[in-house]
Amino acid sequence: MGDFDAYVAVGGGSAMDTAKAANLYATYPADFLDYVNAPIGKGKPVPGPARPLFAVPTTAGTGSEMTGVVIFDLTAMHAKTGIAHRYLKPTLGLIDPENTRTMPSMVATATGFDVLVHALESYTTLPYNRRERPARPILRPAYQGRNMISDLWSSEAIRSAARFLPRAVEDPEDLEARSRMALAAAYAGIGFGNAGLHLPHGMSYPVSGMVRNFHLPGYPADEPLVPHGISVVLNAPAAFRFTAPGCPERHLEAAQFLGADVSGAKPADAGSILADALIRLMRRLHVPNGLSAIGYTREDIPALVEGTLPQHRVIKLSPRPAGREELYRLFEDSMILW
Ligand SMILES: [Fe+2]
Repeated sequence: MGDFDAYVAVGGGSAMDTAKAANLYATYPADFLDYVNAPIGKGKPVPGPARPLFAVPTTAGTGSEMTGVVIFDLTAMHAKTGIAHRYLKPTLGLIDPENTRTMPSMVATATGFDVLVHALESYTTLPYNRRERPARPILRPAYQGRNMISDLWSSEAIRSAARFLPRAVEDPEDLEARSRMALAAAYAGIGFGNAGLHLPHGMSYPVSGMVRNFHLPGYPADEPLVPHGISVVLNAPAAFRFTAPGCPERHLEAAQFLGADVSGAKPADAGSILADALIRLMRRLHVPNGLSAIGYTREDIPALVEGTLPQHRVIKLSPRPAGREELYRLFEDSMILW
């Protein structure tokens, strides 16, 4: 690996995350699995600051310019996993909506739903004072649980996505909408980069990792791909219906930010109100109707569950614990959404 003074990452989440990982391993060489999240890797803390890294996003989705998280495919295990540490945060993010002007509409849809679900998950994740406590301060996770500051960023990102995502998809020349989505991605990045995520992301990693022969228009056709935002949002309605009893008032507030009418709503309705609001937006923007529409069948569910269980970093922050049986039912409920 070269001895570089600094790194410039231009692209979507994969490009930015690749640069973060290259910077980490060039600065602190180690066996690849050393820094990878446990239990898949050894989960060793990053030893210190890496070289300066400047992140220039060309999509409005991942928020990677704001986070200390690197996500990648571990092809040997057909799984997506990651490295998370605050030292991986870019030195600077350069967010210019002009860089998203030529993004195809389906890419705007997939990345936009990633933003929205980042914000919805971080707004409903376990609070900072209820997450698992690390043995030593240096082991404190990047994802610390929701808190009063992350709430500000997450709630604003939900509102922005509700208002500007349809416009950003339906009219690529609408630079105001594309600007507000670029900002929403960054806001959600600050929110989830501190609070954390939970089930929709945890479940999305095997959905992307086990893809067989699916691809969407606007994405390269040379290899099968379920875009990250699509694999996340397809699990989200079932996941929020399941997690709502863990903190119904947060789910109702999130639905309200999304534009749902929650007047007179009972706590028991919170999950379905949020799921329905999300499904309305998914239908409007022509998202595939559930995991069955991207090539999965019920026979795949056991493998999807096995691929989700090791995602401790995220699934342990679920406001309602989900084990093997619960995940099985959530994947079942995600096969067809409407
Ligand atoms: Fe994401």
